Amino acid sequence: MRHIYIIGIGTGNPEHVTIQAIGKMNAADMIFLPTKGTEKEGLAAVRREICDRFITSAKTQVVEFAIPVRQTSDRSYIESVDQWHAALAQTYVGLINDLPEDGIGAFLVWGDPSLYDSVIRIVERARQLDAASFDFSVVPGITSIQALAASHRIPINMVGKPVEITTGRRLVEHGNRAESTIVMLDGEQAFSRIEDPDAEIFWGAYLGTDDEIVRAGRLGDVADDIIRTRAEARARHGWIMDIYLLRKGRDFDDL
Ligand SMILES: C[S@@+](CC[C@H](N)C(=O)[O-])C[C@H]1O[C@@H](n2cnc3c(N)ncnc32)[C@H](O)[C@@H]1O
Repeated sequence: MRHIYIIGIGTGNPEHVTIQAIGKMNAADMIFLPTKGTEKEGLAAVRREICDRFITSAKTQVVEFAIPVRQTSDRSYIESVDQWHAALAQTYVGLINDLPEDGIGAFLVWGDPSLYDSVIRIVERARQLDAASFDFSVVPGITSIQALAASHRIPINMVGKPVEITTGRRLVEHGNRAESTIVMLDGEQAFSRIEDPDAEIFWGAYLGTDDEIVRAGRLGDVADDIIRTRAEARARHGWIMDIYLLRKGRDFDDL
């Protein structure tokens, strides 16, 4: 039976790639690499660098494929994503069927495949379409949450307290409910739209890359600087990926 590895590659620094990931990349007959569609050029360059640097096996072929375009008109967001995943699952079946019988394929996933990423979901869908003629396993990677915590030299949780991981849109809807709230996928600077000036924010963009920027402080004091810094960086690079932790309270303040 064919086998697919879904491999987490970390968030921008090729040194995030684990020894396990390198082993699986070199065990693969084909590594499937998205070329266009949702990929920003900076991210595609990191993936290419990882392949150039770590693939040493002569049998491993890099196979580039185009991501189908997501249709958004005349449908809800959920319908649009569902249909897009269905199209991607078809694409995956085509790629996987090009593997030799008992061959091994691999998808390289930004960060870790379990966190705000759909490759696992789409591979499951491809298995249903293909009557499960292949199996798969997952290789964990360093997430943007870990990269953020490391760059700020902080733990993510307060002692014995929960952490909420959410999106910019949900932060605006629900506010920062937990003592520690991680916000990802925020194109609208949701931190500037909540009423909590005394919360601390730990923000990072392009984490792990040479362009990394970090800022931290009381939200009421640093929000404007982050908005300005983010806009300048986004204009300079043409894209941005950023993440932040909002924290309220202090360790042991409920003793
Ligand atoms: C589609 S999610 C993928 C998350 C990824 N699977 C992970 O483990 O981090 C993309 C979001 O992750 C965050 N992100 C990923 N890489 C980042 C980086 N290098 N610097 C800052 N944020 C990053 C941003 O919030 C971005 O909007």
